[in-house]
Amino acid sequence: MASYNIFLLPGDGIGPEVTAEVEKVAHVISGAGLAKFEFEKGLVGGSAYDAHGQAISEADMARAQAADAVLLAAVGGPKWADVPYEVRPEAGLLRLRKDLGLFANLRPALCYRALAEASSLKRELVEGLDIMIVRELTGGVYFGEPKEITNLPNGQKRAVDTQVYETYEIERIAAVAFEMARKRGNKVTSSEKNNVMKSGVLWKEVVTDVHKKSYPDVQLEHMLADALGMQLVRYPKQFDVIVTDNLFGDLLSDVASMLTGSLGMLPSASLGAADASGKRKAMYEPVHGSAPDIAGKGIANPIAMIGSFGMALRYSFGLIEAADLIEKAISDVLAAGLRTADIKGDATSSVSTSAMGDAIANALKKAL
Ligand code: IPM
Ligand code: MN
Repeated sequence: MASYNIFLLPGDGIGPEVTAEVEKVAHVISGAGLAKFEFEKGLVGGSAYDAHGQAISEADMARAQAADAVLLAAVGGPKWADVPYEVRPEAGLLRLRKDLGLFANLRPALCYRALAEASSLKRELVEGLDIMIVRELTGGVYFGEPKEITNLPNGQKRAVDTQVYETYEIERIAAVAFEMARKRGNKVTSSEKNNVMKSGVLWKEVVTDVHKKSYPDVQLEHMLADALGMQLVRYPKQFDVIVTDNLFGDLLSDVASMLTGSLGMLPSASLGAADASGKRKAMYEPVHGSAPDIAGKGIANPIAMIGSFGMALRYSFGLIEAADLIEKAISDVLAAGLRTADIKGDATSSVSTSAMGDAIANALKKAL
């Protein structure tokens, strides 16, 4: 039986609560004899800062580099609002993405039938929704230099962030999007703002070239990022794969997540380039944050975290059937009426984080 080393980074807030549910699901899969998982735990974000004054330690970075996959829950919280910028909780997450070379962030927005009521849009607009946002994750304004606040002679200050993309960065993320589209609805919408940004002009040009050269069979459309935001809430089912830069991808994936009912539902995968043996560095994390307001109460929704583990099975371990069965277990449990507080809607009651995790693990056990 194959054995995989998973580096678990629960992080802050609700992180530890939701990652505990992943271990239950992993246990069911190993119990069925499909694979073995070794979990090693580390610290990231505020919890790492409290332990050693850094957003992630060198030792934990080395463990992340060596793991078959990293599973991260969430970082941040008001407790660390005043720590120095370089060691703020988010710095740990950004360093993991950058140092592991995880340039491709896959954020599926899937609306489970049973949850269409929980969406802020009308049922017919979101029922059956299945979008894949491919967000560039190691470039753009998140990492561009200079990035600074300087003092001006007149006593004012000047803040600069730099939006920068080179051809190869756009080429490789475009290729991920086109490959993904071929396995889905065969359509890619590429988004930027070439009407005001040079990086947008290059983005559109390179995506067009990659398409012409290698993926002419896939349907390609270009849409300005503001228009895409509007279309996402007007008629979201027009989209299949959306490819966009780091910042627009951050914004648009939050919008897309609410279409599915709750931010607590969306998993994500961050992948690096394939090496000679086809293996990629990878990190899996829910799109939601650390939700400090509900941390420790046992009411957080573990579905995005469990779904992220499912993506690890799919994209890192080749356990496609098990990944499908996790999605089905989630769907079945929702169809049976089980809800955590965030997706309660009109339901009369909601269950705890751990009851939701148990129910998904049990449904999976029956299906395996
Ligand atoms: C996300 C988050 C992060 C981001 C933050 C926590 C730095 O919002 O993963 O979407 O902006 O990328
Ligand atoms: Mn975000």
